[in-house]
Amino acid sequence: MTTTSQCPSTELTNPLGMVGRNAGFVDVLQKMMMVAHTKTTVLVLGETGTGKELVAKAVHDRSERASRAFVAINCGALPEHLVENELFGHTKGAYTDASKAASGLVASAEGGTLFLDEVDSLSVGTQGKLLRFLQDRSYRPVGYDKTLHADVRVIAATNANLGQKIVERSFREDLYYRISVAVLQLPALRERLDDILPLAQHFLNVHALALGKAVPTLSAKAVTALMQYSWPGNVRELETAVHRAVLFTNRTKLEPGDFGITNPIFHMDKHIEKPTFSEAKARVVTEFERQYLTNVLRENGGNVTKAAHQAGKERRCFQRLLAKYGLAGQGG
Ligand SMILES: Nc1ncnc2c1ncn2[C@@H]1O[C@H](COP(=O)(O)OP(=O)(O)OP(=O)(O)O)[C@@H](O)[C@H]1O
Ligand SMILES: [Mg+2]
Repeated sequence: MTTTSQCPSTELTNPLGMVGRNAGFVDVLQKMMMVAHTKTTVLVLGETGTGKELVAKAVHDRSERASRAFVAINCGALPEHLVENELFGHTKGAYTDASKAASGLVASAEGGTLFLDEVDSLSVGTQGKLLRFLQDRSYRPVGYDKTLHADVRVIAATNANLGQKIVERSFREDLYYRISVAVLQLPALRERLDDILPLAQHFLNVHALALGKAVPTLSAKAVTALMQYSWPGNVRELETAVHRAVLFTNRTKLEPGDFGITNPIFHMDKHIEKPTFSEAKARVVTEFERQYLTNVLRENGGNVTKAAHQAGKERRCFQRLLAKYGLAGQGG
């Protein structure tokens, strides 16, 4: 029996395919569900790797536009003069190399959603055109003298501090007010410590399955190491670390060294939260208890009496622990 069937990822993911039960993260998902069905412009904020694109896609997938296109553009990846071209298209001869007319991404996203990643990278001029588009959904392809209309929902994302950019005058304040009706602020992984192990377990399942390996377990020291690391690259970095560990290890139990996360360069991030010894210990103990109870229940097929016996706990005391972690209903 593969270990994947012992612990399917679906146990960990919510209906949106995202792992996370941290209160701050769940709050974002709830807001996301509330705005998904509207046509409201959404602004997704969060550090790199926190899941902004995943959330943007989820908004689209939960909307009436789900069957239409989800078109993503990374505004920071193109030279300034090409972004407008890419977004709004151009006419033949609009500039030297424009040998034929081309429609832009706004037209490709007709009826669907346009995802503007790294929206802060747009030049101030293009920001003005985006603002106009958001006001009445009208735009002009480069070199075209008529106005076109498009039925497109816009989702913007950035990991930049827009407030700071507004002060520096590199981001238009009026555009900010237009796109900030529905802000989904994703917490950094270090602010959602209770999600680290469920995410790690999810990625263990996914990558072990992909590599045709049995799903390894985490040693107690590995659990502590994952919990104490600051994860400046957030969920993406965690996924990479787990992938690396599964790829290069054939042992059934993973140790801290398998994840390659000890490079001191990563600990120079000044934003890192510095919990006291007691806080750090309490978090690790909490996560250990949750993980232990989940495992022991699973190993005993959900039978609480058997699980309590294996854990060496009196049944009533064991049930109180299950209730504390919201696992009470999962027994048989
Ligand atoms: N809650 C989650 N559950 C499962 N996978 C997640 C979750 N959040 C993020 N991921 C995964 O982490 C990776 C990074 O997510 P995503 O690309 O959405 O981040 P981002 O915020 O857009 O990053 P960047 O700012 O660097 O563009 C992806 O592979 C994504 O599938
Ligand atoms: Mg992204």
